[in-house]
Amino acid sequence: MNSFGNGDIDHPDAARVIHSGYFHPLLRKWNSGNTEITPSHLMYPVFVVDNDDALEEIASMPGVYRYGLNKLKEELKRLVALGLKSILVFGVIEKLPKDATGTNADSPDNPVVKAIPLLRQHFPDLIIACDVCLCAYTEHGHCGILNKDGSFINEASIYRLGQIALSYAKAGCHVVAPSDMMDGRVGAIKQLLTQAGLVSRVCVLSYAVKFSSTFYGPFRDAAKSAPAHGDRKAYQLPPGSSGLATRAALRDVAEGCDMLMVKPGLAYLDIVHKTKLAHPAHPLFVYQVSGEYAMIYHAAKAGSFDLRVALQETLTSFRRAGADCIVSYFTPQILQWISSGEWQQYK
Ligand code: PBG
Ligand code: ZN
Repeated sequence: MNSFGNGDIDHPDAARVIHSGYFHPLLRKWNSGNTEITPSHLMYPVFVVDNDDALEEIASMPGVYRYGLNKLKEELKRLVALGLKSILVFGVIEKLPKDATGTNADSPDNPVVKAIPLLRQHFPDLIIACDVCLCAYTEHGHCGILNKDGSFINEASIYRLGQIALSYAKAGCHVVAPSDMMDGRVGAIKQLLTQAGLVSRVCVLSYAVKFSSTFYGPFRDAAKSAPAHGDRKAYQLPPGSSGLATRAALRDVAEGCDMLMVKPGLAYLDIVHKTKLAHPAHPLFVYQVSGEYAMIYHAAKAGSFDLRVALQETLTSFRRAGADCIVSYFTPQILQWISSGEWQQYK
């Protein structure tokens, strides 16, 4: 007789031994749900600058570069050979002027508009997503069109964002990804795409749940998009607001977005999880943003931990929380590890 009153079980602790059976990597994998990272789970953000021969390392993000059109092709060729499946393209202007309505976000000289047809031609299987926003092209550096008093003109902003999305769609991208957080822009984009007959050729990935975050700091340096005055707290979500996150995702789903994104990642895993639970029918992206890149890069460089192991754990946590795809500046490094067999999540 044991303590459970069951004579057949002679080990008194048998019912309490619940997690001893995962002594092999495959057993650990079976216990790890949908957490695997393969190339299709990764999207690589790429900065394209209006200086065709440029190759500029971004000081706040060592190992990440702004590419001129002539340099981009070589780098992507290398990455596609390693298994790269999708990119998220950001335009950066150094020579073209900025103005109040972001004219150069979709002018014929815009580096994204110029890059898309070339990329489609050279990399026919690569999914090309384009960030849609105004902040890199407006003289004030905000993500919409402003009144004199600094408040947003919502109608003008979402119409302008729709026009930009339409220009990238006409140039041939597969996905448009509005990152501005203006109310109603997904609906405006869908409407303009529908009117142009492009709605079944372009997918809308909404940065639906985007928090106002200090972790965007290095990106603003990379994209030259820091606001000239004020901050983005009136249109990006307050870090403590779980309710606004729910409402923002519901709004974009109601307006017909095809896929959702939460950003940043690591500090918002609860939001990733609940967004996936609320919208299981929508693919969910999580953006491991520039500050997360810098944080992990510098900690690993200082010897605080091993870069690969830290990334395995971090990316596994995004997948565990519910992400279907991860936007990461570490993508080239991870692809390298996957292709050489060194990416060992369950070993
Ligand atoms: C622009 C935009 C930002 C990011 C993506 N698109 C910056 C911001 O909103 O200030 C952040 C990406 C990153 O930090 O890696 N709307
Ligand atoms: Zn913006």
